[in-house]
Amino acid sequence: MRKARTIFVCQSCGSQSPKWLGRCAECGTWSSVVEESAGSLSVDASLNGGGADPVRLTDVPPNSADIRCATGIGELDRVLGGGLVAGSVTLIGGDPGIGKSTLLLQLADRLARVGHTVLYVSGEESIHQIRLRADRLGVRNDSVWLLAETSVDRVIEAVKRHAPQTLIADSVQTLRSEALESSAGSVGQVRDVAGRLMVLAKQTGTATFLVGHVTKDGAIAGPRVLEHIVDTVLYFEGEKGHPYRVLRTVKNRFGSTQEVGVFEMKGYGLAEVANPSELFLAERSHGSSGSVIIASAEGTRPILVEMQALVTYPASGTPRRTANGIETGRLGLLLAVLEKRVGLGVSAQDVFVNVAGGLCLEEPAADLGIAASVASSWTDRPIDPRTLVFGEIGLAGEIRAVPQAESRLREAAALGFTRCVLPRRNAERVTDPPLEIVGVENIHEALDALGVR
Ligand code: TYD
Ligand code: MG
Repeated sequence: MRKARTIFVCQSCGSQSPKWLGRCAECGTWSSVVEESAGSLSVDASLNGGGADPVRLTDVPPNSADIRCATGIGELDRVLGGGLVAGSVTLIGGDPGIGKSTLLLQLADRLARVGHTVLYVSGEESIHQIRLRADRLGVRNDSVWLLAETSVDRVIEAVKRHAPQTLIADSVQTLRSEALESSAGSVGQVRDVAGRLMVLAKQTGTATFLVGHVTKDGAIAGPRVLEHIVDTVLYFEGEKGHPYRVLRTVKNRFGSTQEVGVFEMKGYGLAEVANPSELFLAERSHGSSGSVIIASAEGTRPILVEMQALVTYPASGTPRRTANGIETGRLGLLLAVLEKRVGLGVSAQDVFVNVAGGLCLEEPAADLGIAASVASSWTDRPIDPRTLVFGEIGLAGEIRAVPQAESRLREAAALGFTRCVLPRRNAERVTDPPLEIVGVENIHEALDALGVR
């Protein structure tokens, strides 16, 4: 057991100080600093295969790190960068109730079917509750082992004894290291638990999944402090009341961070959505103003989604801006561009923007869709339902080129769209477009081409 020295750790941002503070000096949160015993952990020595001596690059056997195993869940393989890597540690974060346990129990089943032994450790539910969920999901496999446990020391023992290929720890906030005094879920505990499971994973080659509950605004910072420790960070997102779930790569030592996997929560668990565009367009509003379809390319796969805006006279003095699925700051910036460059008097209005279906869009190619939907609502002129848009908007109102124009166009053509308004620089480079393309240089031209100015 380590010698206890105390430090003070902010439970919100994870910053440490030698003395107690009423307000965290780093993030400014009040009453978030808690005393913890300091335990330093040497992950590095074990990453080197036990010793501290350097080894020649060419002497390192080319094994584990690049043996990938398809998990049997295609959408998960996609975000992992092409399959599961032995000895890797993956953090799956997301709101409580979003479906993390469901996904991982289904994963356990799929991995067991390809010959893995999987140990599913739950610190949240009893083995009976897990069994009930497994029945609902149709999971029945002799190679899936369950352990209801909150002590990380006992989890480590179990892994050493059973030598599973995959370990699922649900959740990292409920596991506790006996070496520390603080309660489960505190920043110190979360970091220590993850650090020890990381060492274990590297020593034994066990592919490890850590579940972390995170709220949207990241208020429960616990798992966030792990982002730099683990190999891969995935976030499971979705809007309350919508069945769609998006698994997004935030960090990946073994692949791209651009990928998204799409699932639908059904009565018998999560189903993969192979064709997300069809899903997101299924309930679109035809012929009403304030709606436009955009081609987003989060990851390597283009996804068509409906962008909706509503511009109304303000209910109170201060105009409101509400954005679902896009950043509010981005909306503010685009409204300023519309006001200044096109003379659209939206700055004094209430503006609501929503990405239908609960998808979150991060790439700037959504800009033109946001601006077009706002202009359409403001002018009350509907945009042709078989026209789509994409493009980044600069502060001068210029429309900037975006990556993957051709694949966006192909996806749109496949779904019956006939016309696309896109950045001129993209349009010039497309040979043999599968639908009519209209290249535009600035926001004026774009809104004219869409008939909403
Ligand atoms: P869960 O996996 O427990 O979420 P998390 O581990 O992220 O907290 O998912 C819980 C929600 O999913 C719950 O509201 C019920 C719903 N659900 C289904 O709709 N279908 C199912 O087959 C299962 C198992 C859960
Ligand atoms: Mg759970």
